Amino acid sequence: MSADTQKKAAAEHAVKIVDKGMKIGLGTGSTANYFIEAAARKVKDQNLDTVFVATSAETYHNAQKLGLKLINIEDAPFLDFTVDGADEIDSSYRLIKGGGGALHREKIVASSSRFVICICDESKKVDTLGKFPLPVEISRFGVNPTAWKIERVLSQMGFESPKMRLRANKEGKPFVTESGNAIIDLDLKKIPDPERLEAFLNSLPGVIECGLFIGIFGILMMGTDKGVIETTRK
Ligand code: A5P
Repeated sequence: MSADTQKKAAAEHAVKIVDKGMKIGLGTGSTANYFIEAAARKVKDQNLDTVFVATSAETYHNAQKLGLKLINIEDAPFLDFTVDGADEIDSSYRLIKGGGGALHREKIVASSSRFVICICDESKKVDTLGKFPLPVEISRFGVNPTAWKIERVLSQMGFESPKMRLRANKEGKPFVTESGNAIIDLDLKKIPDPERLEAFLNSLPGVIECGLFIGIFGILMMGTDKGVIETTRK
């Protein structure tokens, strides 16, 4: 079964929870897009009054095109739940996110939700986080000094010659997030202590948000060849 089929199955499993009167956060990425499609079908078929908050312009446009009612997060500071994908997830429900560059808004929306569901294919499940480069969103003012501070923190934490790369867009120019920031991707191979790394990175002036999502996601719906496996964080 392809990764896409697994993603779609996970999204269709998650949509069972969508109900009338709910306010739901929508993540960003290909898996979140499958959820948007499934939610749009359900809302239309059952004539539900459910409303949604988007984590990116791409998600907003996809949801709007399919007829979902979108509201501003400022008008919905408390959401019933959020559904989002992952770049990596470990057995403690710690995630790396931000491959699509939406990490800042994804974290704000997810952490404003009563519970957060990760939908993904089984390739996203890892023993140790870090094979996927960790995105760190930083201010565009002082990119070099912030990069230098990140490098120093990584060296203090014992990462040996980690590769750091300023993310570029398709034109080869520095990528700019929807919040107007830059992203540095950290190729760390293995992150043995994600909590410590997150605390160090987020304490640096210039760092807006790091792509580690810890203690935020509580439910995992993972598409596998044997069907969707749903588990809850202990
Ligand atoms: C977007 O910034 C990311 O956090 C995505 O949620 C993540 O990259 C998962 O993407 P896919 O669902 O496309 O695999």
